Parts: sequence; C-alpha cells; structure tokens
Amino acid sequence: MPLIIAIDGPAAAGKSSVARALAKKLNLLYLDSGSLYRAMAWKVLQKGIDPSYQSEVENFCHDLNVIAQHGGQVFVNQEDITHFLRLTDVTRLSSLISTYAGVRQKLLKIQRTLAQAGAVMEGRDIGTVVFPDANIKFYLSADLAVRGERRYQEMLAKGIACDLKTVTDEINKRDDSDKERAVAPLKPAPNAVIIDSTALSLDEVIDQMLQQINNR
Ligand code: CDP
Repeated sequence: MPLIIAIDGPAAAGKSSVARALAKKLNLLYLDSGSLYRAMAWKVLQKGIDPSYQSEVENFCHDLNVIAQHGGQVFVNQEDITHFLRLTDVTRLSSLISTYAGVRQKLLKIQRTLAQAGAVMEGRDIGTVVFPDANIKFYLSADLAVRGERRYQEMLAKGIACDLKTVTDEINKRDDSDKERAVAPLKPAPNAVIIDSTALSLDEVIDQMLQQINNR
C-alpha cells in the first residue's frame, strides 16, 4: 500500500508550505489538488465558456488531461499552464467549477492516478473523498484574520497589487462556498488530526505533523 498523507483545510491555512516540507522530509511526491481545479478553471476561462452552464463546463473538462508534477508545475494536454494558476479570475472560477459534480469526478480519477505511488496531498476533500483510507489525515486551519494576512503578504511578495480586506473577504467567501457545496464539501474527516495554526509557526506545524506520523 502506498503511503498517503492527506492535508485538508480552508484557504491560506499553510497547507502548501507544510505539505511541500513533509513530502521532502519523507521523500514522497507532493501534490496540490487545488492546482488541478485551478488548471481546469484557466482552460474554461481561456475557452470563453459561460461558467454558469454546468453541463457545458463538465463536458469541456471531461476531455482535458491535467497533470500536476512534484514541485507544483501543472500541464493541461501537455501545455504548461502553471503561470496562470494564481490569477484572481482563475481563483474565483476554480471555486465555482469545484461545485460541479462532473468536474470533481474527472479530477477524482486524475488525483488517484497521480498519487498511486504515494504522496503528501493537500486540498479540501482528500481525507474525506479522494483517499478516505489515507494513512494519516490532517485538517489544518487558522483564524480568518491570520489566513487573510498570510495570503495578503504572499501576494505582496509576488508583486500582486491588493488590499488586506479584499483578500480576506475573498478567502472567506471561497471557504463558505467550499463548506456549503453539496458535493465533497470541505470538512474534517472523522479521523483527522486537527491542527489550528493561528499561533503556530510553519516549523511548529511541521513538527506536530511529523510527531503524529512517527507515532503511527
Ligand atoms: O491556495 P488556496 O488555498 O487559496 O486554494 P487552492 O487549494 O488552490 O484551491 C482553489 C479552489 O479549488 C478551492 O477554493 C476549492 O474551491 C477548490 N478545491 C476543491 O474543491 N477541492 C480540492 N481538493 C482542492 C481545491
């Protein structure tokens, strides 16, 4: 059985940074499932499909072959589209199309294939739906204000013009939609280890997770 470590939680809780660090320490593949939803959203945008037409979006996404590589590079039908994944419109659209069952179904298969040799995988439904039998599941969260500030600083560091309130409101809205959707909503798996990173540094979160992993 390949080793699967699932890390779920709301936006900007620090999942990517800890998942990447754990994967490196444990010599496992790192997979960011959000990047797959973002990749689909980018192609829908580029194609100019009205995203409110669910079946049209689902049919279009059905024919896309999305691959995420260790390190975060993402390819759709062999085209490297990594550069577009963090655009504001892509973020917004990823949240909408992630409510579509057909899109999730397609990505479910892709995620299971990508992680077949084991992975540290982060997302919203990894421990609940994608890998319900994962060896260990974490649910990483933090207060909204802290997550807003972290995402704001990340965007500033990337040179993206933004303001703290808009960034915080945007992640709050996306979290609500992710928690309330009918298909694969964001919630802790029943057996997940819950970590609140509000007052913890990145290293402290990683240490807590490593301790839990070593205990098993
Ligand atoms: O990086 P950030 O936490 O802001 O978001 P992300 O992980 O890149 O995910 C973008 C969006 O994709 C989320 O807001 C969800 O709507 C969707 N998503 C999902 O539904 N299921 C996943 N396993 C991962 C992401």
